Amino acid sequence: MTTSDTNPLLEARRICKDFPGVRALHNVDLRVGRGEVLALLGENGAGKSTLMKVLAGILPPDSGELSLDGQPVRLDSVRTAVARGIALIHQELNLADNLDVGANIFLGREPHRLGILDRRTIDRQSGAVLRMVGLDVSPKTVVATLPIGKQQLVEIAKALSVNARLLIMDEPSSSLSAKETETLFGVVRELRSRGVSVIYISHRLGEVEALADRVVVLRDGENAGELRRGEIDHDRMVRLMVGRDIAQFYGRRARGAGPPVLESVDLETPAHAGYRLNFSVRAGELVGLAGLVGAGRTELLRVLFGVERALGGELRIAGRPVAFRSPADAIRAGIALVPEDRKQAGLIVDMTVRQNLSLAALRRHRRRFGLLNRRHERSLADAMIRRLNIKTPHAGQVVRFLSGGNQQKVVLGKWLSMQPRVLLLDEPTRGIDVGSKEEIYELMEQLAADGVAILFVSSEMEEILGMSDRVLVMHEGRLSGELGGAELSEESIMHLATGGARAARES
Ligand SMILES: Nc1ncnc2c1ncn2[C@@H]1O[C@H](COP(=O)(O)OP(=O)(O)OP(=O)(O)O)[C@@H](O)[C@H]1O
Ligand SMILES: [Mg+2]
Repeated sequence: MTTSDTNPLLEARRICKDFPGVRALHNVDLRVGRGEVLALLGENGAGKSTLMKVLAGILPPDSGELSLDGQPVRLDSVRTAVARGIALIHQELNLADNLDVGANIFLGREPHRLGILDRRTIDRQSGAVLRMVGLDVSPKTVVATLPIGKQQLVEIAKALSVNARLLIMDEPSSSLSAKETETLFGVVRELRSRGVSVIYISHRLGEVEALADRVVVLRDGENAGELRRGEIDHDRMVRLMVGRDIAQFYGRRARGAGPPVLESVDLETPAHAGYRLNFSVRAGELVGLAGLVGAGRTELLRVLFGVERALGGELRIAGRPVAFRSPADAIRAGIALVPEDRKQAGLIVDMTVRQNLSLAALRRHRRRFGLLNRRHERSLADAMIRRLNIKTPHAGQVVRFLSGGNQQKVVLGKWLSMQPRVLLLDEPTRGIDVGSKEEIYELMEQLAADGVAILFVSSEMEEILGMSDRVLVMHEGRLSGELGGAELSEESIMHLATGGARAARES
């Protein structure tokens, strides 16, 4: 028996929340024990973030009750929730980009001395929480200059600085490196040992197995079941989430690849001047790009997509040299990039699902068809919503109101509807639930079978091993090797990713 049975810190009963056309939560119950790490699971759109926003005073429930320490409470604002010791780390980064790290950590509760902003206290206290999360940056660093993983750590540090009794983490690890995730685990365990309760949301079931004292699962806005410590394993979690067994993920069959579609000859990226990158991706080939965070994978994709210009070397598409001055040029040449950070580069969240889905297609096909007509736009969008199984009440829904994983699917759909020849994917299944992951893998297979050349970055070893015909490995800006067939293994990839000697073959 855990403390959550007898004397829970927080209890939610029969919580309901509807949005226009969507029943997000229906009679949901949740208890959180003191010093308990509770994992909350569910498919994309199951209602996890909505429930957490109710607990954090962001969204008022339509009905239901909350109690804290056995007493009924009303949490009608973030301020009230924080005053009661409840803090939420948002799924989508919620920082003020143009402010520095310290200002973000203390946003809305800046300390003052004699009526003047007390910057010294901000810096000192920020420094302490930044150390806790293992982030080695000055509190004076402007947030926008940090890579997304580090911004995520700032978000976590900010939540720690309020000394919560209940800390809610909504997919805190989705953009962290393996090492940063380990540090995060350390933080969670430390909080638990101090009696702080944590609600942890993640689609990475391995993390849940490693951390959780108890697992609660939502399905379609309702309680689907719970698992106690000894019962937590991968298959049980999946079954509760999707209501069925998931047989096997990766069914890659060897396929004959066509001619090279994307060729990089001595290409030099601005991030790693002096290193020449040589590789190619053939039509119908799925090539994984592996490496540790900072190895230069995202930078390479950005050059291939014309976001940044190469310093030297040559890029060829279907045998012809190309020089991209902007992504628009790359798009016209048939290249699509699904970026790592959907909010900044992939999606216009204030436009509708339909508009987002037809954006890239518009750019690419404008020359051929003139402006896409409305009807065409509509049928294209509806087809993509079905194909990717995007959970939205209708195609006219504003993207901001979709769940995180469903937003990711819209990004993917946007680029697919452009019918690219070369598809670049940067962490394509970030924030995607187990069931939908399988759908995305199938889609990648289908595209390859249709002759698309796919180059994808992934930090999930299983995904790289399971989905690639061939793997390119990067280390500190260099291509440290290329692996295929029988050479492909976790060990061989890690060896090259950590700077081990080059595989036998040259170039
Ligand atoms: N502000 C809103 N307006 C309209 N619908 C919303 C709003 N917020 C959430 N929804 C809808 O409520 C449902 C639950 O969404 P929620 O964000 O809670 O899912 P989730 O379990 O967190 O999913 P994910 O794993 O993808 O993050 C979804 O269908 C979503 O589109
Ligand atoms: Mg969510």
